[in-house]
Amino acid sequence: MATIEELRIRRPDDWHLHVRDGDVLGDAVPHSARQFARAVIMPNLKPPVVSVEQALQYRERILDALPQGSNFNPLMTIYLTDSTSPKEIRKAVDSGLIVGVKLYPAGATTHSDAGVTDIRNTYPTLQAMQDLGLPLLVHGEATAPSVDIFDREQVFIDNTLIPLVEQFPGLKIVLEHITTAQAVEFVREAPERVGATVTPQHILMNRNALFQGGMRPHHFCLPVLKRETHRVAIMEALAEGHPRFFLGTDSAPHPQGAKESACGCAGIFSAPAAIEFYAEAFEQAGALDKLEAFASLNGPAFYGLPVNEDFITLRREPLSLPEAYPFGKERVVPLRAGGQLSWRLVD
Ligand code: DOR
Ligand code: ZN
Repeated sequence: MATIEELRIRRPDDWHLHVRDGDVLGDAVPHSARQFARAVIMPNLKPPVVSVEQALQYRERILDALPQGSNFNPLMTIYLTDSTSPKEIRKAVDSGLIVGVKLYPAGATTHSDAGVTDIRNTYPTLQAMQDLGLPLLVHGEATAPSVDIFDREQVFIDNTLIPLVEQFPGLKIVLEHITTAQAVEFVREAPERVGATVTPQHILMNRNALFQGGMRPHHFCLPVLKRETHRVAIMEALAEGHPRFFLGTDSAPHPQGAKESACGCAGIFSAPAAIEFYAEAFEQAGALDKLEAFASLNGPAFYGLPVNEDFITLRREPLSLPEAYPFGKERVVPLRAGGQLSWRLVD
């Protein structure tokens, strides 16, 4: 078969993105706006985006940070706490601008201290979400300190997620940034109202990348990278074109100093070359023909939104990444800083 030199696909969306706030917003958003038509914006700011009003104000700040002429559409979320009210859910749906509610188990990751301490505290709210069709977006990791960090996703699926899917038979659920064969299996066996996002790092790397010749803080994210067998299981589901897996970068910029530190933050900044990273992973798996569904069709189908009307072109051409990008008064180091990719988005 001849190698493919150019790939034209419907414009993709990012169904899981962190763009932060304040003076770095204008340095974060344009990377995504260049590639994606829409992105689901995570609410784990400090303080978190817990109300509809805060989400709509945050949306305005994101729109203000866009380059001139950009049509990028931020799809907003609110942060679920033990006290989020069913009334807030009604408001969220009525706003027409909020596409989901994010569940962070308290203590699971960056800025999750305000998260849910016991899922049962949120049942009336989940009931309202089920009734009104608003999806629950889940950071799926058990937080008990006794659980091994590499088992946290699997334990969460067994102890919390499977019971939740049964308890709320109409609730739409996205298991975000999946990292294990167990998560793949869970989604395959779950009803159609359950989907999952997949990051570039979890299909390009395994946990060896954390310790390649030394400690690699820029490969540290949560959920943490897993064994090669897990990477392969995720990539297999994508290569077979399973419709309930879709693109969510979880691009999560932190200032260089906060990553390269004695206690480095979790988060991988993939936004500058996100679609190119995915193209590389799909090509390695011999599945470039499945990239468009994963990146541009499966997500809208799950969320009940139209697909984008325009197209992008990826060309087989080397793309060099800089060592860092501006990030407010600091710098942010991207995934594969100073390295190369073999695909390039043609502007
Ligand atoms: O690695 C991560 N970074 N995982 C998360 O869940 C949060 C994110 C962030 O906001 O930095
Ligand atoms: Zn995230």
